[in-house]
Formats: sequence, C-alpha cells, structure tokens
Amino acid sequence: MRRSILTGTGSYLPEKVLTNDDLAKIVDTSDEWIRARTGIRQRHVAADGELTSDLAIRAAERALEAAGRDASDIDMVLVATSTPDNTFPATATTVQAGLGITHGGPAFDLQAVCSGFVYALATADSFIRSGAANRVLVIGAETFSRILDWTDRGTCVLFGDGAGAVVLEAGEGRGDTSDRGILSTRIHADGRQKDLLYVDGGPSSTQTVGHLRMKGREVFRHAVVRIAEVMQEVMEETGIGPDDIALFVPHQANIRILEGTARKIGLDRNKVYITVDRHGNTSAASIPLALDEAVRKGRVGEGDLVLMEAMGGGFTWGGSLVRL
Ligand code: ACO
Repeated sequence: MRRSILTGTGSYLPEKVLTNDDLAKIVDTSDEWIRARTGIRQRHVAADGELTSDLAIRAAERALEAAGRDASDIDMVLVATSTPDNTFPATATTVQAGLGITHGGPAFDLQAVCSGFVYALATADSFIRSGAANRVLVIGAETFSRILDWTDRGTCVLFGDGAGAVVLEAGEGRGDTSDRGILSTRIHADGRQKDLLYVDGGPSSTQTVGHLRMKGREVFRHAVVRIAEVMQEVMEETGIGPDDIALFVPHQANIRILEGTARKIGLDRNKVYITVDRHGNTSAASIPLALDEAVRKGRVGEGDLVLMEAMGGGFTWGGSLVRL
C-alpha cells in the first residue's frame, strides 16, 4: 500500500520577539492576563519587508536538508496560509521559484486558516496515494501580524508569525498501523459559523486586506468540542488508543484548549507538546513549527506515533495520525 512518509521537518521564526510587556505598552492589557487566559508569554513578528514566502522558504530549506533532498527532487509545493504575499499568484509559486524548482510541477496555496496544515497534509497524502505526486513539500506559513487590529486587545495579543515545513515522500507499507507515514487524516468544515472568526476585508468584498475579528469565548467553546471529536475519529479509524501515541502536537491556539482537549480524550498531559507560550498562535504554521521543534529536541523520532489536530476560521477542523 502506498503511504506518505514524513522524511524531514524544518521551521523558521522571525528574529523580532514581542513580549506581553511590550504589548501592554500598545493596548490595555497585562502579562498576567495574557498568560492566565492563553498561556502565551511572547510571539515572533516579521520584520518590515519580510514576507510569508520568505519565512516559508527558510522553513522549507531546513526541511529539505533534514530529508536529505534537493529542491529539484520535490514535485509539488503546497503552502497553507491565510496571509499570502499577494492576492495572487499563490505564495507557493513564489516559494517554488525561491527554492530554485524549475521542472514545472504544481504549486498552490491552501486556505483553511488555522486548520490549513492538516488540510494540506490531507491533500498531499491524497496526491501521493493516488500516484499523482511522489515528493511533496507541505508548508504552513503566516504573517498574522499584518492582519491584526493592533488596537483590539481581544485579538492582537493572541497571534504571531512563523513557518514550518515537512517533506512527504511516497513509500510502500503493509497497509496496517505498523507502517510509517500518514495513517489517517480527517478534515471537516461548517460554514455557518463564519461570523465568529473572520477577516473583515478581501479583494471581492472591500478591496482591502482587512483585520481579524473574533468572538473569542464562542470560538473557544466550539474548538474544544470539535477538536476532541476529530481526534476520537482518527483514533477510532486506526484503532490507536491514547496510550499508543508518543506525542500530541496540537495547533497552538491557547493552552487551555490544548489541555482541555487532551484531558477529554484521556491523553497524558506530558504527551502534549507546547509552543504556544513562546510562539503564540501562528495559525497554519503552528503544527509544523511545533513538530519540527519536537523532532530536533529528540522528543519524537522514527517509528513514533504523532497525533495532530487543528481548528480555525470557517469553521474548519481536522486531525491527522502519523507514524514518523
Ligand atoms: N487584556 C486584558 N483584558 C482583556 C483582554 C486583554 N488582552 N482581552 C479581553 N479582555 C477583557 C474583556 O474585555 C473582558 O472584560 P469585561 O469582562 O470587562 O467585558 C474580559 O477580559 C473577559 O473577556 P473574554 O473574551 O470573555 O475572555 P475569555 O476568558 O474568553 O478569554 C480569549 C479570551 C483568550 C480570547 C479566549 O476566549 C480564547 O482563547 N478563545 C479562543 C480563541 C482562539 O484561540 N482563536 C484562535 C483562532 S481559532 C483556534 O485557533 C482554535
């Protein structure tokens, strides 16, 4: 059975760090409030002129190096982002060119907000399993700092910039859960909740970029339910239980959501990988950023089972179970 095997990870964070105390100079907030409600201590912010594609290219180069591959070995580039460099072309084509890939393989963006990376994994996995692609670069990259309303303390304290990437390669497995690679991905959407989390601009509506708007408390409530559901779904499909999972790498939105959902499905607190304290919510970049850190720190390695999940604007949500 054809499988999509994760052969390398990479990530990149912009140099500039914005602490909670820095934010308290901009809006009426405090380090205590932000840490208690979200777990966030700081976030990284892109420099002037540093674009989503710049972050994506750095992360991709590191993932390629980890996989032992040249950029020319890659036959498809997928960038999950809600903060593209331009309305078009896709940031993925800029990344493709920036990496020096010239053989004409497909490159496109995927927009599912914070669930973007899980959606992109599901898409890449389908291309690989159908035989349409052999080696895919899957990137989550965001510059959310550019779509925040820096006068709205309810949202501007939550997000950060960054990028993470993985190389997925076709391989043969036995078709059971002892295989390396993506064992299950489930993605969902419910467009009825758009007003709870959205950006109030766009090319077709306002001809402006717009700012992120959110009803935080309601989003929180939906997130815990949906995330627990999709993790259960992935585990049921594969017959894998919480004890088999080596590491849970969730979308990093809020420490209370991460701990709440882990508790709900019976996952040990020590198996939850946390970067939200240092990265904030980097939307589609948060899972690959956290995964890369976990791999490089030796928290997980080849053969380990990793469970990922995300929920974001739309609403969209999804989960993925991978054996590294
Ligand atoms: N500093 C100080 N006070 C603040 C701040 C701030 N940064 N932001 C809001 N407040 C105030 C509010 O004005 C309100 O004051 P009031 O009671 O006088 O009206 C009070 O704090 C409570 O506000 P709530 O919004 O009810 O606070 P809550 O406990 O729900 O926490 C938060 C807000 C952190 C946004 C939480 O709802 C949350 O994390 N929601 C999930 C949102 C999220 O993660 N979205 C990301 C995208 S979706 C995803 O990734 C899952």
